[in-house]
Amino acid sequence: MELQDLVCIITGSGKGLGLAMAEKFLREGARVALWDRSETVKEIASIIDPAGERTFSVTADVRDEKQVSEAVSRIMGRFCRIDVLVYNAGISRHKPLEEMTVEIWNEVIDTNLKGAFLCCKAVAPFMKEQKRGKIINIASLGGRTGRPGVGVNYAASKAGVVGITQLLAKELGASGIYVNAIAPGPILTEQTRQYPPEVFASWNAGRTIVKDGLPEDVADAAVFLASRRSDWVTGVTLDLNGGILIH
Ligand SMILES: NC(=O)c1ccc[n+]([C@@H]2O[C@H](COP(=O)([O-])OP(=O)(O)OC[C@H]3O[C@@H](n4cnc5c(N)ncnc54)[C@H](O)[C@@H]3O)[C@@H](O)[C@H]2O)c1
Repeated sequence: MELQDLVCIITGSGKGLGLAMAEKFLREGARVALWDRSETVKEIASIIDPAGERTFSVTADVRDEKQVSEAVSRIMGRFCRIDVLVYNAGISRHKPLEEMTVEIWNEVIDTNLKGAFLCCKAVAPFMKEQKRGKIINIASLGGRTGRPGVGVNYAASKAGVVGITQLLAKELGASGIYVNAIAPGPILTEQTRQYPPEVFASWNAGRTIVKDGLPEDVADAAVFLASRRSDWVTGVTLDLNGGILIH
């Protein structure tokens, strides 16, 4: 198993990609702190780990510094260490530029970018103390090139996540902390399945691989970046998009 006994925090793990990563990390032997703003995360934890021995759930809003700090303290109280942070919590609120309000801009920037900053800041002291840790930030293809269906708020937030990743890889590397990002293209999730197939297909224009992107594809990449197999990888954004980016 690739992640035997590693303590891994996954934000936004109440559903979607975060939940897929939590399930995969458990199968790889990790102990997983599921973290979501939705109370349903407790029920999710009891479903994927009925014995409750390898999971711990926290309900906290990643935009709130106090809630972030308390959540990390509670996770430390439960597991006594933090080996991996996957900053995955994210939202999108697409509007064309002329309809984009400051409120919608702030909502997305606060969740996707400020939340990443707050969570990285909260776990870094514990990882420094351990002289080892891995941070994986979930960016997006939308923040790499701009894409149809993402707003300026989402594109900016995810480009910012790439910037944070590169900066922190430099700042924290000497402390044994690796910082990488994953930038998925369109992935079939509960949320993206709500769009008509032709809309999902339009997001995939230029893809060279026939199969659709699945949550498991992101989870596999996250396992690699969380494990010792990536011990010579830092500051990297791993693009997962079936070839869309090369067009
Ligand atoms: N699904 C895709 O196609 C796709 C593609 C590229 C990048 N991403 C990114 O992957 C990540 C997960 O996406 P998803 O499709 O699984 O989304 P999702 O909406 O299915 O799940 C996101 C989870 O984050 C939680 N969350 C949202 N705001 C929060 C907050 N303030 N505090 C704590 N938790 C919060 C939600 O409750 C939810 O459980 C996001 O960062 C998203 O931008 C997704």
